[in-house]
Amino acid sequence: MPESTPSEAAPADFETSSDLHTDLDRSVQQLLLDERPSIPPRFLYDELGSRLFEVITALPDYYPTRTEAALLESSIADILAARPVAGSTMIDLGAGNCAKAAALFEHARPAHYVAVDVSADFLEQALSQLRPRFPDIEMTGVGTDFSQLLDLPAGIAADPRLFFYPGSSIGNFSRSEAIEFLKSVRAAMGPESTLWITADLDKDPAVLERAYDDELGVTAAFNRNVLLHLNRVAKTDFELADWRHVAHYDRAAMRIQMHLETIRATTVHWPGGERRFAKGDRLHTENSHKYTVESFSELLAIAGLRTVEHWTAPEDWMGFFVAAPA
Ligand code: AVI
Repeated sequence: MPESTPSEAAPADFETSSDLHTDLDRSVQQLLLDERPSIPPRFLYDELGSRLFEVITALPDYYPTRTEAALLESSIADILAARPVAGSTMIDLGAGNCAKAAALFEHARPAHYVAVDVSADFLEQALSQLRPRFPDIEMTGVGTDFSQLLDLPAGIAADPRLFFYPGSSIGNFSRSEAIEFLKSVRAAMGPESTLWITADLDKDPAVLERAYDDELGVTAAFNRNVLLHLNRVAKTDFELADWRHVAHYDRAAMRIQMHLETIRATTVHWPGGERRFAKGDRLHTENSHKYTVESFSELLAIAGLRTVEHWTAPEDWMGFFVAAPA
């Protein structure tokens, strides 16, 4: 992925990245030829995919968003008591519309808010609405793919920082990627810094599979949209009608695995290549890992972070962790 580069058009306190799709198309076509073909999950999030994901978060079947909101609401006083964060630089990883962090400003009382997300334009819009509401908080947007490289602009106070990584997005990393990512966060923390992070927890597979294959079919649309995105950026000719959405919870691996499965034999072409798929063949599109409190604390520990405290109320479906340098 590209590194963050300053953009001339952007406001002075705003960094952006260059075109995310540079150089990706070739590697994507390689992945389609693999014995177990896959599409990198970042392709789920073009403009339409991002909108579909926003709809997913409002679905009755998709418990994570409302469960996390309830968890934060019921535990915020204890979270603040567990480790002081007032006056920190709050670094919001995957900020999106910045709403989750903004809802915590009155509690966390950051001196500086740094919103990090791949979509620089989207961030700047969100920040321009937030600034008048919170004039005492300095605000900076950073448009970068932090999952590849946590590259914060110079001039952001080193300590205390409050890293905020909600939404159980850590689950979309593989175990080794999650450890690398947490290590990069740890490396950016001073002794007084804190990490607030949500992890989704192992639970009844029926609840999990319903969340990732909802009754309205929004998650199916979100998953199948990846093919339209690929047709645009990698010049493939996927026929949407040939593919159906599949979400399965692999209990041993503790992860939801999302695939697209052919409902009939089909051949996909692109400039310089093609792949034939038999009926029932699958393309892997995303994993969403689930944890136990113990397995997630262990992951934090491997990355050099200690769990100060964790909360799992109201239903023990998700865990919110306050972590600090070990
Ligand atoms: C962004 N991420 C935390 C979501 C999840 O639950 O793994 C992505 C998602 N995929 C399908 N539904 C939601």
